[in-house]
Amino acid sequence: MEFFTLNNGIQMPKSGLGTFLLTPKEAYDSTLTALKCGVRHIDTANGYMNEKAVGRAIKDSGIDRSEIFVTTKLWPSVYSDENAISDTLTRLQLDYVDMLILHQPACDYIHAYQMMEEVYKNGKVKALGLSNFSEEKIQEILDIAQIKPQLLTVECHPYYVQKKLREYLAPHNIIIEAWYPLGHGDHAMMDEPVFTKLAEKYHKTPIQIILRWHTQYGTSVIPGSKTPSHIEENNAIYDFTLTEEEMKEIDALDCGKHYYTQTQELLDKYASMAPDFNGQDDGKE
Ligand SMILES: NC(=O)c1ccc[n+]([C@@H]2O[C@H](COP(=O)([O-])OP(=O)(O)OC[C@H]3O[C@@H](n4cnc5c(N)ncnc54)[C@H](OP(=O)(O)O)[C@@H]3O)[C@@H](O)[C@H]2O)c1
Repeated sequence: MEFFTLNNGIQMPKSGLGTFLLTPKEAYDSTLTALKCGVRHIDTANGYMNEKAVGRAIKDSGIDRSEIFVTTKLWPSVYSDENAISDTLTRLQLDYVDMLILHQPACDYIHAYQMMEEVYKNGKVKALGLSNFSEEKIQEILDIAQIKPQLLTVECHPYYVQKKLREYLAPHNIIIEAWYPLGHGDHAMMDEPVFTKLAEKYHKTPIQIILRWHTQYGTSVIPGSKTPSHIEENNAIYDFTLTEEEMKEIDALDCGKHYYTQTQELLDKYASMAPDFNGQDDGKE
């Protein structure tokens, strides 16, 4: 395991498990598998409707809470709800989360950020993040922030390296976390010959080459998986190092291709989605 040091001094594992689209039962099983094979960062969200299951798996793992980095995200429908963060902690059965992220730049995200800052000050949140915010919207946050965000999570993979955004974030020392780090499982990308070639050289899999490229680039990764062997594979990426030349070879795949496009229509749709987060099940059969 390797760690990034965030701009507030907090140590964050460079890789973890993503739980988007996992049912509560799948999220419980995958989180437990991940923790048992050494993964120490779990990424969930209000909107994934699996926080209760993730929290139960963390508890059942028996691993000391201080060793696990837990990330969750507030959904826009709770941005004006003063109980949003305490409800989130209750669902997770946790006293604090390591990273709390605003999931989408919709609704009153300024109020939500200020609410997160208050909770940060009393120690219930150790680091603050933004998700899917453009440069313009990040600047709005920076203009009012008492506490700078530590992380921005956006779509990022070898086809979409986000170079411009990285240049903008660098002076603020805000780290990028890649969602869709494997292109959401797109075989066209995962099967690129450069990954196969490097996999042979290092006795690794093409997926491990992609994940290692991300972390060496300074990007944290949270590959999503409900397959135990994949979860284990995705964590075994710290016993080799790509050369500078190999890193550049992978960088050359950057073609601006992305699988998700943010539109105002989508943001409006997110703003109107208000699921019953407390009503979700915890994945028990
Ligand atoms: N902030 C946001 O708005 C946002 C948006 C999207 C995602 N996310 C976060 O980012 C995480 C990652 O995104 P994602 O899960 O959608 O996409 P992803 O990690 O790019 O790809 C996941 C896909 O890759 C497959 N996979 C994983 N490891 C593999 C391996 N070793 N070999 C072969 N296939 C493998 C998975 O299948 P198996 O299940 O069979 O392993 C799954 O189909 C999410 O889980 C979520 O936590 C955040």
